Amino acid sequence: MERPTIIAPSILACDFARMGDECEAVLEAGADWLHFDVMDGHFVPNISIGFPVLRSLRAALPEATIDVHLMIENPDDYVEAFAEAGADLITFHPEATYHPHRVLQKIHACGIRGGLVFNPATPLDWVEHLVDDLDIILLMSVNPGFGGQAFIESTLPKLRELRGVLGRLGRDLDVEVDGGVTPDNVAAIHAAGANVLVAGSAIFGSDSYEETIDAMRTAADQTLI
Ligand code: DX5
Ligand code: ZN
Repeated sequence: MERPTIIAPSILACDFARMGDECEAVLEAGADWLHFDVMDGHFVPNISIGFPVLRSLRAALPEATIDVHLMIENPDDYVEAFAEAGADLITFHPEATYHPHRVLQKIHACGIRGGLVFNPATPLDWVEHLVDDLDIILLMSVNPGFGGQAFIESTLPKLRELRGVLGRLGRDLDVEVDGGVTPDNVAAIHAAGANVLVAGSAIFGSDSYEETIDAMRTAADQTLI
């Protein structure tokens, strides 16, 4: 069964002074989720946004699905606070914690979905032992920390490898890709196995959010996973 294509604009690329309006605009333009990037200046060299911003966004958009991508050390210590602030889904990087299984247990204990994020150089080995506790897997197609970087092409064979691993394990999870995603490369990304497409600058930097989101969905849906 093919999983539906999900377009998730990364709000890192929006105008932060108008964040609520920007998020409403992309949702009206057809976006499925909002991708919320949290950076701590340690796991990645940049610092972005955290709990108070998420709490305000949740209050402004109670129906939105908010996909929280934690690029932070020790995600263990922050899962409950992000769930309480309004996350529907939390992904984290397994190398940022000693206990990725415990982090997944904590996420599920909060009643929300959870998953792992793999950097371009991180092998997929973790999947086999954690697969029963995963709702989603995110492959980074740039090194995390900044928007507006170029898509790393080796993500495509890695996506195919991931779908192969999941097939062998008998699991059909959402597979998400984040970094350098544009209307021009979503067909190849979707064909390689990703159904959740995160895009920051490609959407927020475009003249028409609706046209860009439509173009991404059409290109993705023309290919089979
Ligand atoms: C990068 C973030 C991404 C970023 C993507 O560390 O995780 O979500 O905002 O931005 P673009 O789509 O501009 O590469
Ligand atoms: Zn992200």
